[in-house]
Formats: sequence, structure tokens, C-alpha cells
Amino acid sequence: MTIVLGIESSCDETAAALVTDGRVILAQHIASQDEAHRPYGGVVPEIAARAHVEKLAPLIAATLADAGMTLDQVDAIAATAGPGLIGGVMVGLVTAKALAMASDKPLLAINHLEGHALSPRLADATLEYPYLLLLVSGGHCQILLVEGVGRYRRLATTIDDALGEAFDKTAKLLGLGYPGGPAVERLAREGDPKAVPLPRPLMGKPEPHFSFAGLKSAVMRAVVAMEPGENRASTPAQYAHAPQAAPYTRADIAASFQQAAIDCVIDRTARAIAVAGPVTALVAAGGVAANSAIRTALEALAAKHDLRFVAPPLPLCTDNAAMIAWAGIERLALGQSDPLDIAARPRWPLDADAPPVRGAGVKA
Ligand code: KG4
Ligand code: ZN
Repeated sequence: MTIVLGIESSCDETAAALVTDGRVILAQHIASQDEAHRPYGGVVPEIAARAHVEKLAPLIAATLADAGMTLDQVDAIAATAGPGLIGGVMVGLVTAKALAMASDKPLLAINHLEGHALSPRLADATLEYPYLLLLVSGGHCQILLVEGVGRYRRLATTIDDALGEAFDKTAKLLGLGYPGGPAVERLAREGDPKAVPLPRPLMGKPEPHFSFAGLKSAVMRAVVAMEPGENRASTPAQYAHAPQAAPYTRADIAASFQQAAIDCVIDRTARAIAVAGPVTALVAAGGVAANSAIRTALEALAAKHDLRFVAPPLPLCTDNAAMIAWAGIERLALGQSDPLDIAARPRWPLDADAPPVRGAGVKA
């Protein structure tokens, strides 16, 4: 049996996990930093890095203790080496290097996106390559063709905001706090998805790329135009004197935004299915894959194309260390490991050959 210790620290979750090649998560701990970042409405890199420094070592110790193990019984140490907030990534990678050196075990420097890409195989032993992966989180918004370990073809990416970012910004505009995705989903249940006309950027375009900046701006305009009496919590100052007339509520905006997001995701994913070639399944991962309305729509899309729909359980969808340990297990099984002087990378595309996307980086 192979046992790998995984470490994740690329954003605002500090996490450690022990995973076996038999797909058993022996123990895991996740420390969320939501409270620390909430006053700022988003992740503050310096606060994140300091929190990782404080939390990681005790968290690894607790994970080993829960499994009743010492480092000597671990076969390898895997840590996220990028992409992500570089301060946090360095905390995790340097810790992994120290543990690997002290215990004389192999080090696996894992691409965080590879962790997400392979995580469905940790949850589902029957999932075979190649599969189509929709990766939608606060930091990522991509569709990847996963052909094997280390073999990823990026079919689509966002040219501006990630989908989770759009959920978080909508939540902020509606005064719902951080992280915004779950709060928008809850409020959307009480609203009318057709109440507010909102754009569906890039819908119908032949390449399956995403864009959400224009949708976010339209949400901002809708918030400004909202009925008097509705909470305009964080309306930017320049709009403070705009007339309030439109006959819809905050819940209507949440529902209409979510519907626009779903329409975009389904249209773009359908396009990716059309250009991907044969695949065994449609897989969704990343924090936004926790959204049950999006899951339901993706399930229907997969059924329409006679594809299996696989979504890892929610704790494996959001950032976690078990997926990093699992990517380590998959790479270790192929005889791979990394040198102790490997560098942390703030940017690290999974598919280095993917052509640049026209319009990328343009924020509305
Ligand atoms: O994967 P994740 O935990 O971290 C990143 O790598 O970004 O994803 C976090 C993102 C946040 O933007 C959060 O608002 C979004 O996922 N999210 C959701 C839901 N739950 C989390 N978005 C929509 N609906 C949800 N239920
Ligand atoms: Zn992630």
C-alpha cells in the first residue's frame, strides 16, 4: 500500500491529508480562512500567507495523529507548487521540502489544477480517461480534456473573470458577504430568474471560452436600478444618486444572475463536448460545482449527449489536500517525483501549448 501526505495552501484554505492508493482518505484537516478575509470581501494575499504559516504545521501533526501514523510510515510528500497566491504556495512547498528531506521520502510538487483535474478519480474508481472536466472555482474557469496523468488539453478558459469570482462579486453588490457563491444560490431560490434582463457573454460563439465581466457589470447596473427599500449595501459611490425604479428585488437579481451563469456554462460546455472528440464522462469540479442548480443543468446536458456525469462530493470539489495527495499517488505510480530545489510557481498553466485567447485580459 502506498500512502501519500498531501499539503494544500495556494489560496485561503490550509489543508493536509493522508491518502492511500486504494482511494482511502485516512485522515484530513482543513482550516478555512473565511473569517480572516470576510471584512475585505475577498482573499487578502498577505493575511492568507501568514495564516498558512501559523496553521500548517499543527494541521499536519493533527492529520498524522488522527491516522495514528508517523512520517516514517508515509511513502511520499505532495504539495501544491502553484498556481496560486505565491506566499501561501511557498509556505506549503517549503514545508513539504523540509519534511521530504528530514524523512528521506520523495517530494511531489503538484500543479493545483492537476489536483482538481484528477480528484474525480479519487472519488470514482471507474472513471477512465479521457474525460471532459469543467473546472469552475474562484480562481479558475476552464474546460480541460483530461487524457491521462500529465496529459491535459485546455479547450476553454475565461477571457476575464472566473465564474466563482462573478458569484462573489454579485454577492458583494447584493450585500451578501463572503464567500458569496452559497449565499447567492440561497437567495436565488426566492427570486424570479426571468425578472432582470442580463447578458450571456460569448454565448453561441464557436470556441467554448467564457467571459463574465460584462455580466458582472450588468448586475451592478441592475443593483443601482433596484426598488427603493431594497438594500443597496455596497453600491459604488458614483451610482449613489442614480434613480431607483426597477420593479425587482435582490432575490430576483440573484436568481437572474444565476440563470445567466447557468445558460453560459451549459452553452459553453455543450460547445466543448462538440469539439472534444469521444470522452467517457462529463466531470465538474471546483467550488462552483457545489452549486446544485448548476449541477442539475450539467447532469441534463450530459444525459442529452449520452455521457456519464460525475461530480466529486462537495468536500473534494472545493480546495482540499486529499486531491493533492491523490495527484501525488497517480504521479508516483508512474515513477515520477520532483527535485528538492523545484520552485513555486504563481502561474502554471496545465496545458502550456494552449494558444492565447483573443480578448483575454480585457475586463469590462
Ligand atoms: O475551489 P474553491 O474552494 O477555491 C478556489 O480555488 O477558488 O472555490 C471557491 C469559489 C468561490 O468563488 C465561491 O463563491 C464559489 O466557489 N462557490 C459557489 C458555491 N459554493 C462555492 N458558487 C456558486 N454556488 C455555490 N453553491
Ligand atoms: Zn482550486
